[in-house]
Amino acid sequence: MKHITPDDAVAFIRANTALTRPPHVPEVALHLADEAHDLWQRTEEELAEIGLPPPFWAFAWAGGQGLARYVLDRPESVRGCSVLDFATGSGLVAIAAIKAGAQRVLAADTDPFSRPTCALNMAANDVAFETTGDDLVGAMGGWDVVLAGDVFYDRAMTDRLVPWFERLSQAGSRVIVGDPGRSYLPRARLTELAVYAVPVTRALEDAEVKRTTVWQFA
Ligand SMILES: C[S@@+](CC[C@H](N)C(=O)[O-])C[C@H]1O[C@@H](n2cnc3c(N)ncnc32)[C@H](O)[C@@H]1O
Repeated sequence: MKHITPDDAVAFIRANTALTRPPHVPEVALHLADEAHDLWQRTEEELAEIGLPPPFWAFAWAGGQGLARYVLDRPESVRGCSVLDFATGSGLVAIAAIKAGAQRVLAADTDPFSRPTCALNMAANDVAFETTGDDLVGAMGGWDVVLAGDVFYDRAMTDRLVPWFERLSQAGSRVIVGDPGRSYLPRARLTELAVYAVPVTRALEDAEVKRTTVWQFA
């Protein structure tokens, strides 16, 4: 895969997305792939050739939309708190947390396109939060709240996340996840907080709407 500088990434994001409001969280504007751009129709090989992993950052995933909705509707869940938005992608959940009154938000994503996307999306919403490209799985950062939108789609990732989320919960963090029924959702360890019907991109999800649940890790 080609080396991509942050400037290349910003130019690519601008050229391949449009500033859009995700349907379930219209308070937030994001640079998202849309029908005018063919980002989601390109194959993984085509993307790899231009130095791009699958563009998770270009979509507001159902889990993230549900979680952002929850945080905005229940600002007391994050108000005054230090928050980690793990696997932030576009930064949607981090933006919602700042808007809901979180004292400090760190948004983490290992995809090199996520940080430049977050920077553009911060500017679009007139908010600021910290970002990192480090893999924080296993880190005990003393966060009051750990948010994670749509992270249980991969078995290897889930196997790493579950013990970490358990340790964070035991250490006193509130771990809250948004999930539209992905394959590896660790259902037995979760307590339901809210359920939403989230409109999604048919080309990605093969559905118009996904029933999305916000859970607290027990
Ligand atoms: C389905 S997307 C969800 C993005 C966002 N939370 C949302 O709901 O719109 C999953 C994200 O997890 C990120 N990810 C995967 N492994 C990660 C890791 N070890 N640390 C941080 N982010 C990771 C991917 O880069 C991707 O952006």
